[in-house]
Amino acid sequence: MPASQSKTAPHRPIRLLAVAGARPNFMKIAPLMKELALRRDRFEPILVHTGQHYDQAMSESFFRDLGIPEPDVNLGVGSGSHGEQTAQVLVAIEKLLVERKPDVVLVVGDVNSTIAATLAAVKLHVPVAHVESGLRSGDRAMPEEINRVLTDAVSEWLFTTEPSAETNLLREGVPKEKIHFVGNVMIDTLLAHREHARRLDSLERLGLSPRGYAVLTLHRPSNVDSPDQLRRLFGVLSRLGDRLPVVFPVHPRTRGVIEKNLQGERINLRMTEPLGYLEFLRLLMDAQMVLTDSGGIQEETTALGVPCLTLRESTERPVTVSEGTNTIVGTDPRAIEKAIEKQLASPWPAGRTPALWDGRAAVRIVDILERDLSGRIGPSVG
Ligand code: UD1
Repeated sequence: MPASQSKTAPHRPIRLLAVAGARPNFMKIAPLMKELALRRDRFEPILVHTGQHYDQAMSESFFRDLGIPEPDVNLGVGSGSHGEQTAQVLVAIEKLLVERKPDVVLVVGDVNSTIAATLAAVKLHVPVAHVESGLRSGDRAMPEEINRVLTDAVSEWLFTTEPSAETNLLREGVPKEKIHFVGNVMIDTLLAHREHARRLDSLERLGLSPRGYAVLTLHRPSNVDSPDQLRRLFGVLSRLGDRLPVVFPVHPRTRGVIEKNLQGERINLRMTEPLGYLEFLRLLMDAQMVLTDSGGIQEETTALGVPCLTLRESTERPVTVSEGTNTIVGTDPRAIEKAIEKQLASPWPAGRTPALWDGRAAVRIVDILERDLSGRIGPSVG
């Protein structure tokens, strides 16, 4: 230590570079940015938007609805193949890391931006904190599963949302000290915005009555990239649509396949543009049932106590089944039909809220980072 600096010199703030890129990242980064902003004296946050999602409806509206600060940097990478998208984020983030010299990189979830930012950081010896670590579907054909496994293998802080995650990480050889069960930042966001969403008049505007409609989302490549598979799903889902309104905000990926391959076919679903966070939450709250292939919606319906039928063969979020309101139905139309009938005939499931899904996950995460990083940061030289 230079003679001019005393042992009690104030420490400079921890420079934390947070990365968000695609729609499901935004609700996870929001409560973290809020918590970091409350600790301005301890943290200097830099928010990077990779630009993986870029439409008003897929990106901007979330920043507005959730009060996320304007990103400090937008890398503007846009769409592309997995290789292109990952590579572009990797190259752009590496440059930024060299320029900004953060003490830590914070990544969330499992999208291509998550693994790209992680790889760039660890190669430059910048430690990575991964929020929503340890989830495993066991299906390596899912691009997100590869992103999860690789991100976790090289991260220094692994923040988990449910007990299965720790089991998975320990099995993969991650030292226990790196694993922190902190709860669910996505549910922090849900709890913070639930009352606001409840006041919206979305149901009246769409002519829906509470419990008198279903909500559907579909965007997994395994469900929507094959027109035949999508046609099969629409067949059974349209039969549900004959009995009650099925509101279907269409992801751009799915819209592309519909426009190209399914023009003129019978689809009895109420298709809409992708909805903003608050409006979608309003619809989830009072749905009779939700049908989805999303990861996050399985958690949101569990937190809301709304029945969810997951149109996938597996889930990386088993707590939503063992404790919540989720059922893994698969993608076979007959199985879906049966599950729908059962759901229509049965009383609502009485799920319980998983441990630590209490709105304080971001606080726990930032506490741990502050504790662990404060000791590593040199005194202020300013
Ligand atoms: C990505 C994530 C997925 C997440 C999903 C939520 C990966 C591997 N996948 O999948 O985990 O659940 O986001 O949406 O990271 N497009 C637009 N506007 C946009 C963004 C995309 O029109 O703002 C279109 C483009 O045609 C693009 C396609 O949607 O090619 C797919 O986008 P992409 O980011 O590649 O993957 P998602 O399917 O959205």
